[in-house]
Amino acid sequence: MKKDIVIIGAGGHAREIAYLIECINSKEPTWNILGMIDKDPRNVGKYCGKYQIIGDDSFFEELKRDVSVVVAIGQPAIMKNIYTRLQKDFPDINFPNLIHPSVVPGMREVKLGVGNVICEGNIFTTDIEIGSFNCLNRGNNISHDVRIGDFVVVNPGVNISGGVTIESECLIGTGATILQYLKIGRGAIVGAGAVVTMNVPPGTTVVGVPAKPISKGSKI
Ligand SMILES: CC(C)(COP(=O)(O)OP(=O)(O)OC[C@H]1O[C@@H](n2cnc3c(N)ncnc32)[C@H](O)[C@@H]1OP(=O)(O)O)[C@@H](O)C(=O)NCCC(=O)NCCS
Repeated sequence: MKKDIVIIGAGGHAREIAYLIECINSKEPTWNILGMIDKDPRNVGKYCGKYQIIGDDSFFEELKRDVSVVVAIGQPAIMKNIYTRLQKDFPDINFPNLIHPSVVPGMREVKLGVGNVICEGNIFTTDIEIGSFNCLNRGNNISHDVRIGDFVVVNPGVNISGGVTIESECLIGTGATILQYLKIGRGAIVGAGAVVTMNVPPGTTVVGVPAKPISKGSKI
């Protein structure tokens, strides 16, 4: 029997996660998408792509049954807030790993937590450890001995070289490259297209080739 799943968020990323779930279902019918959740109550009843916005922040208080949840918001701090609150207030909610079926066979040597979203085209090699509640968007290369913490967002087309550590709550911009054995500190941001050649201190935003810090107070 298919299990019910709710997508938190009602933007483009939510539609992409719905697409990922449909890909999983096409391989093996697993999920019944109940709909999306949007924080603005005025949007309830509207549609986000094919799926209806079925509730706002109060949705889970009224729901009296088990459900699985995925957060479709590509910003680490927001993801962390939502997942942490749901775990605390609704211990019956499940947080499945949603992995594109084409990626699954290549993940034999990946240790994985819960609540991860792993989209099409991610390539993993060996001895990799990924925590929980991360989003690996499409088409990333993740090499040997990589460590990824929790609530990390990796946007499409990133190269993560061997031995790299990405601590929790980082955002890695699309097309970035991180050279081998470097550490991206907690909450850091790597800009789109950056080539990271040195460790990135926690909370720092770096951009460019080679990547250099920009001033604090990023909008993301
Ligand atoms: C790095 C990033 C987070 C910075 O955002 P921000 O803090 O709002 O910074 P701003 O847009 O104000 O830019 C600050 C400066 O950095 C420069 N800059 C921003 N992003 C840059 C990048 N990726 N590469 C090179 N320079 C960049 C800006 O041109 C600006 O330079 P200036 O001060 O000389 O005018 C953002 O630009 C980025 O790259 N995000 C990743 C987005 C992504 O992956 N999108 C794909 C979604 S699927």
